Amino acid sequence: MSKEKFYESLKNEVKRIDESKTSKRFENLIEDFTDDPSPRAIINGQKYAIFNSNDYLGFRHHPALKKAEHDATERLGTGPGAVRFISGSFKIHRQLEKKLAEFHGRDDAIVFSSAFATNLAVIFSLVRGQSKDSLINSNTLVISDELNHRSIIDGVRLANLGKDEKLIFKHRDTDSLSQQLEANIGKFDRVVVISDGVFSMLGAYQDLKKVREVMDRYDSKYPEGIFLIVDDCHGIAAFGKTGRGCEEVSGAKADALVGTLGKGFGVDGGYVVSDQVVIDYLRESAATYIYSNSITPGCAAAALKAVEILDSDEGRKMLANLERNISLLKTELKKKGFTLAADSSHPIQPVLIGDPGTTKKIIDEMYSRGYLLSSINYPVVPKGRDEIRVQLSAAHTEQDIIDFVNAFTAGAKAVGVL
Ligand SMILES: Cc1ncc(COP(=O)(O)O)c(C=O)c1O
Repeated sequence: MSKEKFYESLKNEVKRIDESKTSKRFENLIEDFTDDPSPRAIINGQKYAIFNSNDYLGFRHHPALKKAEHDATERLGTGPGAVRFISGSFKIHRQLEKKLAEFHGRDDAIVFSSAFATNLAVIFSLVRGQSKDSLINSNTLVISDELNHRSIIDGVRLANLGKDEKLIFKHRDTDSLSQQLEANIGKFDRVVVISDGVFSMLGAYQDLKKVREVMDRYDSKYPEGIFLIVDDCHGIAAFGKTGRGCEEVSGAKADALVGTLGKGFGVDGGYVVSDQVVIDYLRESAATYIYSNSITPGCAAAALKAVEILDSDEGRKMLANLERNISLLKTELKKKGFTLAADSSHPIQPVLIGDPGTTKKIIDEMYSRGYLLSSINYPVVPKGRDEIRVQLSAAHTEQDIIDFVNAFTAGAKAVGVL
């Protein structure tokens, strides 16, 4: 009976979220897809063009990926059967890890069930060590970009650091990073710097070359140096001429690079690539790898196919189509009088609206016109910077983009914007 009081507070919290117009639980249920070049989602029997997906290259409907997944499932079954170290490790998992390592120019990789699970484990293991018997000396300072993804924030939380052991540097501000490094010389054995590669709110990216320059200046001031973890879930398979993301665009590398298989690669799962010693250590210590199932063999086969295609002429052509779509969308939106919240060359294009009520109205209006869109609202972006986040795919045709901009203009006018 006493749980009723608890339920009352849960109900009030949901009501508070609903009233702030930021609720997320009213999800659209996709029943099917059309077979258009950029497939439309079917929801309640109606067709919707998709402008809110992370499937930046259109891989999730690629026939070769579907076939690879189907064939592997026929041979190997639908699930892994156990965690990797017990009996859930398949040759296809290793083939995928080797291909990911080769694609990113690293020694080795580990695949996890998601990038969220990857970040939790990579951060915890590298900062804290596996157990109290661990030989990892944990006198580590963590410095994190202020707009890092929730999975990074939670990874740092999990490491249970004291207030002075986890610092935040101003978003994409290497002077701020430099000040933190300067101020902490002599207090820590090592530093772990953590950042998103591409930030999903605005499509902006961390300039890793500038981060590296700062790190190089301070590396020798810490006995065990400075280690850089970059999560480029939105950059890989979406950004850069060959899809190598933020590292390719900024011309510098992370020490451990985290990616997802569930966005640009169109499948599911997460991974980290790094030096052999780091990967060996993580395979022994990463809890979400050791104690949680990996992706299915079918999923691994489809992901392997996606990396192989990305790393070929076909993949580079997909990226070129995406680039064409990005510049067409930007030009057309500007012509109609919209303001972009950032000058991004990534398939995330943020249209500045300014308040959560209006973003919701636009989304509802666009839904009634057959479009799926999403918004990014406070507190993810600062108050007054609420935006419609338009996400493009290489599979969109030029006509899709033109039709979208016309519908968006009419939709915005209908709710009093423009
Ligand atoms: C930067 C970043 N990291 C990690 C994740 C989590 O990816 P996954 O869906 O593979 O867990 C996301 C997805 O929202 C992301 O944007």
